[in-house]
Amino acid sequence: MLRFCVLFLGLLSAFFFRVQADSVPASVFILPLDNGSANYTFALNLPANSDDIYFHLSGPASYSWIAVGTGREMKDSMMFIVYSNAQGDGVTVSPRLSSGETEPVFSSSLNVDELPGTGLSDNTMIVNGRCSNCRRWKTGSLDLTSRTQPWIYALGPHSGNSELLKSDSKTASIERHSEYGRFTMDMVLATGGTGGLPTSFTTAVGSSEDGKPHYDSNWPSILHALAICAAFVLLMPTGVFVLRVFPASVRWHWVNQSLASILAIAGGMLGVYLSTMFTKSQSFGSSHQIIGLVCLAAVVVQWGLGFWHHRLFKIIKRPTRYGPIHRYFGRIILVLAVVNGGIGLTWSYASTRVVVGYIIVVVVVGITVIAAVVWKRFTSRSRKKDGLMSEGLGGQYQGGYDSNIHLASYPEQQYNDRFQ
Ligand code: HEM
Ligand code: HEM
Ligand SMILES: *[C@@H]1O[C@H](CO)[C@@H](O)[C@H](O)[C@H]1NC(C)=O
Ligand SMILES: *[C@@H]1O[C@H](CO)[C@@H](O)[C@H](O)[C@H]1NC(C)=O
Repeated sequence: MLRFCVLFLGLLSAFFFRVQADSVPASVFILPLDNGSANYTFALNLPANSDDIYFHLSGPASYSWIAVGTGREMKDSMMFIVYSNAQGDGVTVSPRLSSGETEPVFSSSLNVDELPGTGLSDNTMIVNGRCSNCRRWKTGSLDLTSRTQPWIYALGPHSGNSELLKSDSKTASIERHSEYGRFTMDMVLATGGTGGLPTSFTTAVGSSEDGKPHYDSNWPSILHALAICAAFVLLMPTGVFVLRVFPASVRWHWVNQSLASILAIAGGMLGVYLSTMFTKSQSFGSSHQIIGLVCLAAVVVQWGLGFWHHRLFKIIKRPTRYGPIHRYFGRIILVLAVVNGGIGLTWSYASTRVVVGYIIVVVVVGITVIAAVVWKRFTSRSRKKDGLMSEGLGGQYQGGYDSNIHLASYPEQQYNDRFQ
């Protein structure tokens, strides 16, 4: 009898709670992701007896962050952004405000409480939240009587393309979205009850997608990195190679280095534009930006040094003191720029694959150029010893300043033919 009573009460309460859960007024938006293997879900309830907003936001943890925002565009939107906590066993919920197509800024005045169920479960980031002052927020205001209130969603970079953000800080720097879009919600349908949301969401209610998802990427960042790294890691070392190894030509050297400098400076200008998009870079005070700007200024100085050295050389017909300065300054810039590229990659959460690729390219290029230069110097020295090459300019200036091309190893006539 007792067992029967317990069973009966159990069934009754299960029935009762189920009915209750389903009767919570809510609008639910579901967006299938990753070919339907996961969902982005946003649900909303506006209790009748208070100014609170109850919301549920969930999506796969394979995205760096997931977000929802009010309105049709980023400008003046009020957003909830969710990413993994530092430990990787929970989530950080960051209410932010956006002023345009740049990183939204954390707002401590938006009063968001995290309710039970918030966390990481089954590789899904989940927030059950309540905001006590979002309804009538000055920007991104919600029309509570609208049956098609506009909302936006966005997803951060996907794992594999990027190192996932893990942070306990609500002001953590987020990277640009890989996907975004719009939807509408029926606010009337979401209104009522005493506050709260169902515990599971299997069907969309009172919502519809507005247009198709837009796939996006941080292309200014990628172009910036490709342009500057191509200039410093590939082209400029090639300039060292053509000067010292083959064809050992000053003309090819300066043509190549000039093109590389233009590419580097163009990439730097993209970097300046890029810097306006993220909170971390808007004040131009980070080490990556400072070292980068110094490198680019140094490139201009270096170009002037090389130009002046060669001009003087043609006039006075002997190496100048700008030669060694140009040579050592050039090496310092290259090392600094390569290190700065590494700093940039970590700074923008580049994936391990990309970082490893970068290190491999740098090491291979470095070893190739150094080995070729050393080999060339060694062979031309021994040839000179064997008397295979005439003394040329070299004999006169053995103890003096060296030129940037070891002119000592070339006959004067040959030098004149080639470079004048
Ligand atoms: C670092 C953070 C972010 C940056 C740098 C950024 C940047 C941008 C840029 C440049 C565009 C224009 C893209 C294009 O022309 O195709 C854009 C559009 C958009 N973004 Fe973001 N965004 C960020 C975060 C967010 C977040 C958190 C949301 C949250 C919902 C969001 C939602 C949208 C939407 C819906 C659009 C299309 C409508 C519009 O142009 O405003 N964005 N974003
Ligand atoms: C030697 C010069 C420089 C090199 C080699 C360099 C290289 C890089 C690289 C490899 C990245 C990573 C890009 C990615 O993972 O998508 C990056 C990011 C970045 N760089 Fe530079 N950079 C240089 C100079 C500059 C300058 C002068 C500025 C601006 C003042 C700048 C601003 C930025 C910004 C804001 C990012 C972060 C973008 C993001 O978070 O998505 N860089 N840089
Ligand atoms: C999704 O499906 C399309 C074709 O239906 C396929 O080309 C694509 O590779 C799939 N993507 C993933 C992530 O499985
Ligand atoms: C995604 O949502 C649909 C309903 O739109 C549901 O049938 C499906 O089971 C959900 N998938 C996952 C992985 O939760």
